[in-house]
Amino acid sequence: MSDALRCDRAPAWAALRQHFDREGRALDLRRAFEADSGRVQALSQEAPHLFADLSKNLIDAPTEALLLRLARECGLEAHRDAMFAGRHINHTEDRAVMHWLLRQPKDSVPKTAAAPAGVAQGATENIATEHARVHETLDAMLAYAEKVRADHTITDVVNIGIGGSDLGPQMAVLALAEFVAPGKHFHFVSNVDGHELAAVLKGLAPEHTLFLIASKTFTTAETMANAQSAKRWYEQSGGTDIAGHFAALTTNVEAAKQFGIDTTFGFWDWVGGRYSMWSAIGLPVALAIGAEGFRRFLAGAHAMDEHFRTAPLERNLPVRLGLLDVWYRNFHGFTSRCIAPYHAALRRLPAYLQQLEMESNGKQVDAQGQPVTYGTSPVLWGEPGTNGQHAYFQMLHQGTDVVPLEFIAVHEAGHDLPGHQPKLLANAIAQAQALMVGKKDDGGHKNFPGNRPSTFFVFERLTPEVLGAFVALYEHRVFTSGALWGINSFDQWGVELGKVLAKDLEPRLASGDTTGLDASTAGLVTRLGHKQ
Ligand code: F6P
Repeated sequence: MSDALRCDRAPAWAALRQHFDREGRALDLRRAFEADSGRVQALSQEAPHLFADLSKNLIDAPTEALLLRLARECGLEAHRDAMFAGRHINHTEDRAVMHWLLRQPKDSVPKTAAAPAGVAQGATENIATEHARVHETLDAMLAYAEKVRADHTITDVVNIGIGGSDLGPQMAVLALAEFVAPGKHFHFVSNVDGHELAAVLKGLAPEHTLFLIASKTFTTAETMANAQSAKRWYEQSGGTDIAGHFAALTTNVEAAKQFGIDTTFGFWDWVGGRYSMWSAIGLPVALAIGAEGFRRFLAGAHAMDEHFRTAPLERNLPVRLGLLDVWYRNFHGFTSRCIAPYHAALRRLPAYLQQLEMESNGKQVDAQGQPVTYGTSPVLWGEPGTNGQHAYFQMLHQGTDVVPLEFIAVHEAGHDLPGHQPKLLANAIAQAQALMVGKKDDGGHKNFPGNRPSTFFVFERLTPEVLGAFVALYEHRVFTSGALWGINSFDQWGVELGKVLAKDLEPRLASGDTTGLDASTAGLVTRLGHKQ
């Protein structure tokens, strides 16, 4: 782990506080645009496969300069280089963080680099060895995907997994619907709530169904319960070919075999669950868009990796966004961020980004386990536009809290219905404009304060490479803010306690035993005790 300065101890942190008190807090976007004709030019940029306009954010050149100083004082570059060198920067689990290696092309073998300056010695993966394993598995998985795609007896693919083993593939399969081969239907079952699996199974025939059991650990309670029920359903419906109708995507190939699944695609402990869509966990995506499409998806992400790894911090989009996040969270005190994709196919993107950012950066202690004195992950939420405009945008325009927004607009439509796309895009631009310019009305109720910040992303078209690049952009943005906050963005101890308590409570629902429980929990156990 980096021995770099924690953000609140860096000299630039104090300078930023002073700058915020003197000017930052009062920045008015309308005046900033009037005063600086070069604002859009300075605060927008192209990055691989996309364009981002940051100019409607509450920043200016002096703020960005101070944030960049903070990044340097906190050792952001050394921490980034440590990740790309295969060092075990996930120190609480003693693991490397190498999802980027899953996107590294076959013909460019990365070398294990020397430890970057400022990074404590620790374990380092042999990158060349891991890279060879990545491509061996990728080739096998893509060959399997093509075989299943050509097999017309398989009409339904059911992915059983949760969290990172569900949200990414589900989001990507929906987002890339335009590229999905006809004749196959994709279903995603994550919840231990049997209503979900039961509804999916209702429409299926065992001989036409392929189940993918996706679990990094192959121990997650929800996934194991759903996998058991799916297997039971398959056998009770007359299915006899488990090998042909079940595949496992996991780092725990042994457990999958014990479960009775022989077709397995592995990955490695240096791939975090929420960063695993690029590994075997991406098999549903490969089945949906084909081997070539999946390679394009990886290539888009790799292009963003290279941008993050090599672009100067001043024009490094994930870095600029991560610094903006720190500025908003720790100086303006904003506690949430809204994601508004103006493309219906991106409807699961907010949920996916929620896990990516909140599970990564929802931490309260620094690398040394000491409590931090500043806010970390904001709440991420959102819905596609224009739907959100008729639901919660009221609060965004006139509510008492300021919530920075992220618009995602796609230039070229993936359908040929006339008239819709210009309406959609005009709405996206208009909302960003309205939030910023506001409207004076002395009567009060019709007054829009304006000066509400937003970022505007533009994709030319929603293709596999664009989606890959955008997700990698977010991964590195989360890395950046997490690095400045000095937290470990790659563990998730906070999910453990609830799992342990649920294990204790489940038998109590049957037995009615409430010994040792607090009065509220005991009351709920009694009320919700077994019906069956
Ligand atoms: O919710 C905790 C978590 O460990 C996530 O990080 C992960 O994506 C999810 O559970 C599923 O884990 P697995 O892939 O091991 O089943």
